[in-house]
Amino acid sequence: PHLPLTASLGRPLFWAAERASTNVTALEWAAQGLPHGSVVTAAVQTGGKGRRERAWVSPQGGMWFSVLVRQPCALHHAPDLTLLASLAVWRALAESGVSAEIKWPNDILVAGQKVCGILAQMRADGEWVDHAVIGIGINANFPAEQLPEEIRHRATTILSACGFALERPRVLAAILTELDRLYRGLATGEGFASVRREWLAHCQTIGRDVEVAIGNEIVRGKAVDVDDQGSLLVELADGNVRQLHSGEVLFSGS
Ligand code: BTN
Repeated sequence: PHLPLTASLGRPLFWAAERASTNVTALEWAAQGLPHGSVVTAAVQTGGKGRRERAWVSPQGGMWFSVLVRQPCALHHAPDLTLLASLAVWRALAESGVSAEIKWPNDILVAGQKVCGILAQMRADGEWVDHAVIGIGINANFPAEQLPEEIRHRATTILSACGFALERPRVLAAILTELDRLYRGLATGEGFASVRREWLAHCQTIGRDVEVAIGNEIVRGKAVDVDDQGSLLVELADGNVRQLHSGEVLFSGS
């Protein structure tokens, strides 16, 4: 409600004390003509959605919001939308004194534990993305004890990891400002490739032994690079390199 007027994303902004899922609301409203740049947020989500059909626990104190993007974007640039979002979050957190890392493709970690996840849901029209809802969830100002027991070994909150609370309106404004800048580049053909170096500098995944889940398949090897398309390059035991367009890094070793 107190969003500083710095970003052209975030107008209008729809705040509510509670929603099932800001992504679900944004997708529904998108179908009814909600304009580009709209943000749907909620203090609490009762049915927050994570990747891979998981639930996303979203208590009071977190940042739960979805950005509607209606901007011409070729389907093959779809991964850029989430990769650029992770960079926007990284930059905004850095501005607030949080030193974070990106885990490919778009998780944000602090001290090796996840504090932010991004869920992009797109509607395509032929070779083009018609619109995309970029859902961002940040475990900000609540203690890690409120996270489900099953994820406590790999997830935390800013409050618990850093010992301070985020100024949420300021962080939201910063994320939207950065996102706006990065997405404008996308419109002129400068997608992820143009910020890949910066993104890689913040990425913790490269150089590690990884296990990546792609649907039901598990790929094991060493993460060697992320290419201009945002794909993870994994060197397999036989020396071949596999290009993974999407997936989830389940485990990363040294
Ligand atoms: C992940 O599994 O890492 C993605 C989590 C995405 C959570 C955010 S919170 C705001 C938006 N609304 C949702 O229901 N999910 C996303």
